[in-house]
Amino acid sequence: MSRILQISDTHIVAPGALTCGVVDTATALRVLVQQVNDLLPSLGPIDLAVVSGDLTDHGTAEEYEHFCEIMSGLRLPYRVVPGNHDARGALRNAFSDQDWISSQGPVNWRLDLAEVSVIGLDTLVSGQPYGALTLESLDWLEAQLGALAGFPVLLMFHHPPVKTGIAPMDAQNLRDATRLRQLLQVYQGRCRIACGHVHRMLTTSFAGHPLIIAPGSAHAVTLDLRQRAPNSLTLEPGAMVLHSLDPVEGADFTSQMLFASSYDGPHPFED
Ligand SMILES: [Fe+2]
Repeated sequence: MSRILQISDTHIVAPGALTCGVVDTATALRVLVQQVNDLLPSLGPIDLAVVSGDLTDHGTAEEYEHFCEIMSGLRLPYRVVPGNHDARGALRNAFSDQDWISSQGPVNWRLDLAEVSVIGLDTLVSGQPYGALTLESLDWLEAQLGALAGFPVLLMFHHPPVKTGIAPMDAQNLRDATRLRQLLQVYQGRCRIACGHVHRMLTTSFAGHPLIIAPGSAHAVTLDLRQRAPNSLTLEPGAMVLHSLDPVEGADFTSQMLFASSYDGPHPFED
């Protein structure tokens, strides 16, 4: 069994500050970390946590320090991919002691677990809200998929290459996903794509593979499906996604949402 916990869009700001003046993202992440630690005995081993972008709100060194301080309480190893609110250089500095972080170029990485290979892709375009994959990243991905030769893949990156119906987000999704689509369409193994950016749980498909957008850890992009919807947030409960792949032959990934805070229970069902 391989299990990967996806945490997304933590948007940490400086200690004492609120994201967008209203969201206490630091407290939300502390609560999430505690909840994960509390759930670990019942969820069984989890191989890895991945934060799928927008670790910080402004990409400053102080914000990354705050993020790392909170995440240091998580009793799981974790990796990250950048989102549009991140700054690649400051992010790289914050994780410079980690062997998975590249010293230059895009922050792409691969980790081979027992049942699945987890691939993180960097879609950050500096200074822009939308995302894109560089030629270097696409070449790198092609080489990884070629080497994996059909082994199950969990592909994680921030900007979804699909529309969600939320107009302000669709205007800043992953641009020009043509080659990504081509690479994934011909991949023979099981593949699950996991993104962030929209701060809402949403499932669809891309290039013939299931695609999941994870909820945010602290706040959501407002669910407003009108064409001229304003770009705004709502304080919906934080959540995360647990991706699992069972070694049983023929089994596919499962991806289930977990709330990021504690709740009453469990209570036994009555006979
Ligand atoms: Fe975000």
